[in-house]
Amino acid sequence: MPQFEGNDLYIEQVKLSDIAKKYKTSTYVYSKSKIVTNFENYKKALGSREGLICFACKTNSNGTILKLLAKLGAGADTTSGGEIYRCLKADFDPSKIVYAGVGKTAEEIEYALKSRIFMFNVESFEELDAIDKIAAKIKIKAKIAFRINPHVDPDTHSYIITGKKGTKFGIPYEEAVKAYLAAKQKKNIEILGIHSHIGSQILDIDSFRLAAQKIKKIVNIVEKNGIKLEYVNFGGGLGVEYKKDQKAPSPKQLISELFPVFDENKKFIFEPGRSIIANAGHLLVKVIYRKISGGKSFLITDAGMNDLIRPTLYEAYHEILPVKMTNDKKVKTDVVGPICESGDFMGKDRMLPFVEQGGYLLITCAGAYGFAMSSEYNSRPLLAEVLVNGDKTMLIRKRAKYEDLLLNEV
Ligand code: LLP
Repeated sequence: MPQFEGNDLYIEQVKLSDIAKKYKTSTYVYSKSKIVTNFENYKKALGSREGLICFACKTNSNGTILKLLAKLGAGADTTSGGEIYRCLKADFDPSKIVYAGVGKTAEEIEYALKSRIFMFNVESFEELDAIDKIAAKIKIKAKIAFRINPHVDPDTHSYIITGKKGTKFGIPYEEAVKAYLAAKQKKNIEILGIHSHIGSQILDIDSFRLAAQKIKKIVNIVEKNGIKLEYVNFGGGLGVEYKKDQKAPSPKQLISELFPVFDENKKFIFEPGRSIIANAGHLLVKVIYRKISGGKSFLITDAGMNDLIRPTLYEAYHEILPVKMTNDKKVKTDVVGPICESGDFMGKDRMLPFVEQGGYLLITCAGAYGFAMSSEYNSRPLLAEVLVNGDKTMLIRKRAKYEDLLLNEV
């Protein structure tokens, strides 16, 4: 996490105010060492058990960050042809790429097969048929796991629960065995394992354990039918501490709960996204104006909901820190953007010390689903991204220009 030294806020050994001056704002800023530590924590938790940590690149698909993780030995969890493309460009070994998603198109399936990815996480009978047909056409056998919806209901925002009955994800629990028996009949399909992802920003381990126990029951029945499931993929979902009073389990706590549920010989896959990149990235913004209106205090920043949509979309909380601490009395303030919508806020009713016009704020823990979910809404060019490594900084994405807004128009 960013740290104060004296009155200045730092990431690693670099002052955030210096980053703001050098690269302008708003800018996403990432800590390399935090990314490495977060990933290594998963690797350590896996220990000597055979398995793969596939970074969920939907959280953050910057090529430099992907390359860093690929170099550390990560696999990739992808959800579109575009993500597979990015991961291949970032030097991920195709045999470490898994591919989930309820709506894989024929083009995407063919691209994934030709790219020789590790496996598809298949989410419906219809998708199984489509993959089998395309695999036959191009004569490349498809390796698959079924994504099983275990019907558990973790405590998180309703938009990001995926393992609950009635959601669009995976094969319903009751139909899992039928799916495996159907796949066994397909000539162009090779069954490798089983997958389940129950949701995101989950802080209670119980839901993961419950899902694992249900998945284990399916594994037993499927294997009794002569189908070997070599890999068990638990998906991602481990939450992070956005607020001081939250307590997130460590990868080690999570994994040591799940291991005992399965036999020693099973190979494991995890698809963490948020727990690797969220607290390694932050959004650095400038205060354009201070404003009092209707008895409320507002800090209007140069970042809007198009740059970080999580607060308005999920009512997500991101701690906001001044980049320079002062001894002034803290005042209750809304931190908002320039966009013409009341949902355009980064934080409401935050106790913040005086920040002058032109001063900077850091919206913390925004490395996951931050830049990745940003848009050009209000014709606002996409932001710059900077990676901090010790006392050095590196631009890893240029700030887009006005011309870029028109790039694909005809
Ligand atoms: N695997 C699958 C199949 C997924 O669908 C996801 C995330 C992950 C892995 C990674 O989950 P994580 O470790 O990051 O929790 N935009 C929302 C979160 C959407 C999660 C979608 N699936 C947010 O900003 O909270």
